[in-house]
Amino acid sequence: MTAVPLRLPRRLIEFTLDGRETRVPEGSTILEACRAAGTDVPTLCQGDTLTPKNACRVCVVEVEGARTLTPACSRRAEAGMTVRTDSERARHSRKVVLELLASSTDLSTTPGAAGWIKEYGAEPGRFGADAARVNEEPKVDNDLYVRDYDKCIQCYKCVDACGEQWQNTFAIAIAGRGFDARVSTEHGVPLTDSACVYCGNCIEVCPTGALSFKSEFDMRAAGTWDEPAQTETTTVCAYCGVGCNITLHVQDNEIVKVTSPHDNPVTHGNLCIKGRFGFQHVQNRV
Ligand code: SF4
Ligand code: SF4
Ligand code: FES
Repeated sequence: MTAVPLRLPRRLIEFTLDGRETRVPEGSTILEACRAAGTDVPTLCQGDTLTPKNACRVCVVEVEGARTLTPACSRRAEAGMTVRTDSERARHSRKVVLELLASSTDLSTTPGAAGWIKEYGAEPGRFGADAARVNEEPKVDNDLYVRDYDKCIQCYKCVDACGEQWQNTFAIAIAGRGFDARVSTEHGVPLTDSACVYCGNCIEVCPTGALSFKSEFDMRAAGTWDEPAQTETTTVCAYCGVGCNITLHVQDNEIVKVTSPHDNPVTHGNLCIKGRFGFQHVQNRV
């Protein structure tokens, strides 16, 4: 018999969101309240399976009485608080964050970034052609996934997913300081010489495409990556008896990558190397 864990019922709290009385279960973040109310607040470092890191600050909102802007992704809604998501101060702060990120890194594969840059009137080009950029060549040192740190915003999500929050492998960490800070393996060795076990759980949480399947990287380079044309089918991995859910992304009748549903109560979007990358044998029919 399968036992579905029931959560304790939570009482509702009331607060004011953009001038409207809003009720959310106690413990909800301001971001969760915004999403329930259909209010768009941009996020980059927030991950639905990870503890908030407060690294990007693109989600800031104004809480009445607070001296500084507040990250909506980590601040819990409190009874009686008054929150404004669209104040001039919050919009200006998001604009600057987007300008700094887009002027130093490549956000071309970050979902939502182009729209937010337009919406907030961000002008990454205003720092000029000499603006400091990461400008790193993609690291292609294995057949499974590629690390393109030119697209990395140092949100820490991959580090947290690889470390104590999920994988407990600790193959990667942030090395260096200031502008030289980078996600790195121990001593910067190639992934193949590191502790990495190729679970791909870091790819699952990366918000920018800095970490991507080799299949996706190659198809983007060839100009054949066509996400709108892809179908997604969630099924059960057959490699062992655990029964993890996997979602097959299929384009032109070929599996091009595998993700895992984040709302699965057992795996929370995480997989092992077999579930994540074992799809390649499906295409190798002789
Ligand atoms: S593939 Fe898995 S083990 Fe390797 S760096 Fe990513 S999360 Fe860590
Ligand atoms: S590689 Fe991706 S997940 Fe890791 S810090 Fe950079 S942007 Fe975040
Ligand atoms: S999404 Fe909230 S601080 Fe990054």
